[in-house]
Amino acid sequence: MSADQDFFVIKAKEDGVNVIGLTRGTDTRFHHSEKLDKGEVMIAQFTEHTSAVKVRGNAVIQTSHGEVNTED
Ligand code: TRP
Repeated sequence: MSADQDFFVIKAKEDGVNVIGLTRGTDTRFHHSEKLDKGEVMIAQFTEHTSAVKVRGNAVIQTSHGEVNTED
């Protein structure tokens, strides 16, 4: 279980930001896409199913490694 793993936070700065989860393992593919509107926040983890996340659109991403903004 991964309930004790770090969380990361994505805050949308515009409507229609996409948060895309990519699968863990030899086959790296999209498995989930979440659409956030301006001001919406998603709190998530890396899990046994999700090894990478792609953020498309204007957003702020906070992790234990720091904060990063996608480009406008
Ligand atoms: N069912 C997915 C999982 O357990 C849910 C998920 C976790 C997810 N972290 C994510 C989806 C990040 C998109 C982005 O792995």
